[in-house]
Amino acid sequence: MAPGILAPEPTFTISPMPKTSKEKHNFGAIIENIDLGSISDSDVKALANAIWTHKLVVVKGQKDLLPIKQWELVTRFDPKAPLVHSHGDLKTFNKQGGLLSRGRDVFGIPGAENVRLIGKGYQGDDHFGLKDKTVHKELAHLWHHDKLPEEVFNDGHTRFQRWHIDAPLYARDPAWFTTLRCFKRPMEPELTIHWDDGSDQTMKTEPGLTAFISNVQAYDLMTDEEKRVADHSWVEYAPHPYQWMGSCKSKSSGLGLVNEGKEKTLEELSPYDEKYVKRYPMVWVNPVTGERAFMVHGICVRRAFMRSSVDEEPSVVEDLKEIRAWLAKIQERVLRPEYVMLPKVEEGDIVMWANYQMFHTAVDYPDHYGARTMHQANIGASSGPVGPVPIPMSV
Ligand SMILES: [Fe+2]
Repeated sequence: MAPGILAPEPTFTISPMPKTSKEKHNFGAIIENIDLGSISDSDVKALANAIWTHKLVVVKGQKDLLPIKQWELVTRFDPKAPLVHSHGDLKTFNKQGGLLSRGRDVFGIPGAENVRLIGKGYQGDDHFGLKDKTVHKELAHLWHHDKLPEEVFNDGHTRFQRWHIDAPLYARDPAWFTTLRCFKRPMEPELTIHWDDGSDQTMKTEPGLTAFISNVQAYDLMTDEEKRVADHSWVEYAPHPYQWMGSCKSKSSGLGLVNEGKEKTLEELSPYDEKYVKRYPMVWVNPVTGERAFMVHGICVRRAFMRSSVDEEPSVVEDLKEIRAWLAKIQERVLRPEYVMLPKVEEGDIVMWANYQMFHTAVDYPDHYGARTMHQANIGASSGPVGPVPIPMSV
C-alpha cells in the first residue's frame, strides 16, 4: 500500500515544527515553497512521504488554491482509490452519519463536492458559490457526559471534543491522509483546554485550532507485554458504528465513552451487510518508516480479539467496559499536555496528517469570538491498514 519507500527529492522545503523544551510530542513539519495548484507527480510522492514521515505537515502559502485542486491532490495521493470522500457522498453522510452528521450543517463546495466546508458562523456573501451561508453547529462538548456550564465555557474554559481518526469504520477504509485548509478563524482571545477528569491537566490554545496526538508515541509508551498483546490482536467495529454509539456520551477529556449501556442493538441499526463490517489490527504499521501506531478507535469498537502470539486462539472480549478500560490505560498515557500539539494555522495554510498514525479533535470556542472557515478533504483508501502480523479475517 501507499507511496514508494524510495522518496523522490522534493523541490519544496521541509523544516521541523518549532517547539518549546516542555513539549515532548515528536511529530510535525512545516512545508514551504510549493504550489499545490501545479504540483508535479514526483512532488506529490515526496509530499506523501513527508506526511508519513512527520505524521503531520503544515503546507504554507496556498491562499490562491482552487478547491478542486485540493480534491485533485487528495486523489493523487491515492490514485487507485474510488473517487469519493471517505464518509461517502453528502446525501448518505447526512442520512446515515449518526453522531457525525447530527447537530451540524455539512456543505460540499459547489463543483468540488468532496471538499467539505467545516467551521461555524457566517461564511460571507459568496464562498466559492455558497451564498450567504451561516454554518450552525451544536457546541462540541454537548456530547460530553458531564456538562460544561455555558458561563464557564464563555469565560474561555474549553475541552477536547472527540479524539478520533477520520474513518467510517464500515464499508470504506479510512483515508491515509486528511487535508484541512484554513481560510478563517478567530486568532484570539486565548482559551484554556481543561481535561476535567479530576487530573487538573490544562493547556492554553488560540481559538479555532485542531489538536493532535501521535499514536506512534502512544505505542512507544506501552509496556513490552502490552505491545505483545496489541501487535497480535484486533478489534471489530460495530456495523454503522456512529449510529450504534450515537446515544452514548463521552468522557470530559474527549477520549473514550462513559459506560452507560446506551449502545444500540444490531437490530436497531440501518440494514447492514456483514461483509462491510470492519476488523482491523490494533497496531498499524507506517508504510514508509515502519513505525507502529496503536490505532484503536475505541468509541466504535464492539468486540476485541486478544492474543499474544500468532498461534494462540484469541479470546473474544465482548464486555465493552473491559475493552474500554484496557484502551484507556494505554491511550490516556499519551493524552497529556506535553504530547498534544495544536498546529497554528492561518489563511492559506493546509494541515495534512497521517490519519493511520494520529488522533485529532476539534476544540470549540464561544461563537462571539468570530466565524471559522475550513475546507476538509480526504478519500476512502484503496487499501486499509496493515498490522505487524496477519490477522484472520473470519472468526
Ligand atoms: Fe476529523
